Amino acid sequence: MTTRILTGITTTGTPHLGNYAGAIRPAIVASRQSDADSFYFLADYHALIKCDDPQRIQRSRLEIAATWLAAGLDVDRVTFYRQSDIPEIPELTWLLTCVAGKGLLNRAHAYKASVDKNVEAGEDPDAGVTMGLFSYPVLMAADILMFNAEQVPVGRDQIQHVEMARDIGQRFNHLFGQGKAFFVMPEALIEESVATLPGLDGRKMSKSYDNTIPLFSSAKAMKEAISRIVTDSRLPGEPKDPDNSHLFTLYQAFATQEQTQALRADLLQGLGWGDAKQRLFQLLDTELGEARENYHRLIERPADLEDILLAGAQKARRIATPFLGELREAVGLRSFRESTQAVAATKKKAVKGARFVSFREDDGSFRFRLLAADGEQLLLSRTFADGKAAGAVTKQLQQGGPLDIRSEGQAFTVWLDGACVADSPSYAEATARDAAIESLRLALTPQQD
Ligand code: TRP
Repeated sequence: MTTRILTGITTTGTPHLGNYAGAIRPAIVASRQSDADSFYFLADYHALIKCDDPQRIQRSRLEIAATWLAAGLDVDRVTFYRQSDIPEIPELTWLLTCVAGKGLLNRAHAYKASVDKNVEAGEDPDAGVTMGLFSYPVLMAADILMFNAEQVPVGRDQIQHVEMARDIGQRFNHLFGQGKAFFVMPEALIEESVATLPGLDGRKMSKSYDNTIPLFSSAKAMKEAISRIVTDSRLPGEPKDPDNSHLFTLYQAFATQEQTQALRADLLQGLGWGDAKQRLFQLLDTELGEARENYHRLIERPADLEDILLAGAQKARRIATPFLGELREAVGLRSFRESTQAVAATKKKAVKGARFVSFREDDGSFRFRLLAADGEQLLLSRTFADGKAAGAVTKQLQQGGPLDIRSEGQAFTVWLDGACVADSPSYAEATARDAAIESLRLALTPQQD
């Protein structure tokens, strides 16, 4: 039994050391567990809600993709893709929008915070609120439900969104499932043990506090940031308190037990802050230097990154495309071809309850089966490049002209205009084959009312 784990990364910034320790590193570790089936994606549609600077969106997508790969994400094990490469996601978003209660979305924290701010400022409550911001949780629900994720690792601020995904998915199941649950109910996964790193000033490391340590930009930039870590004013030789030093906390997040113990002992014995910073730099440089080189190699080859992400999208769409097909079917967005056939069949009772069922192969080609009333397969068609060609053949068969049937061993084939269009199953013996040919002829003989 594998567990499907899925999470999105909004592509508006450049990952820093805090993102690495808090999200990227634990996600990569989790993806290596043998029972994990992990989906990681760049939430670039979500980024558009927060950012209208195309350069920044593009740069961030590139940097985040390179960061995850450089940090060791194995794309053969996981499914790694850009949200915007999966057209089924906005399509599902619309199906879900049509069942999501407006009242539910009114309660979303991010939207409510904007409204509160507007009201406080004496503005219209919805001033500056886009439909993107308002519908943010529906898009996120589509991300999650599209792949039937069971676990969704997120920060605390996102728990409500995962709950909304459950609500919306449940509503859809109830309305259209006819007893079948299309969507699995996702759970938010909050990793209590994951480090929230302190920034240079001791507050949580965050871009909004401008207190971050860059991750892969350069050794020099990392060193420079480390030199700005705020410490107390104890001089070299004076004992320091490791437990009240965020420099020590940062060190601990990357060090082995022994390294941590050693630094603790040395600080207690008066190691200078300058030396301690040097040790932190050494540690990070050792831990991350190789990944940094990978990162720059990847960033310099954006076309390779493009290929990797497109391959990931293809992998994801192998699930999304047929699943969305089922959902479209469920809400009533169905092909007219099949229903016309069904109508024609009942009208003329032409095929005595036998029916054509068309479907698409993974490679996009079209096929159909002819099933007897009891569901037994009478024919499986060859593949057709498009639905029109497949439809023309079923129509010709239904019209019941002279049938060109050729026995081949225990099976037979059906030919139209000199081309083989369908195969029978292989029967146990020739007599069974001949009986099947007889019932096929009967099934395909138009009957008068
Ligand atoms: N909203 C999430 C965040 O800002 C990113 C995200 C988008 C996401 N879609 C998702 C996370 C689906 C988990 C699952 O952090």
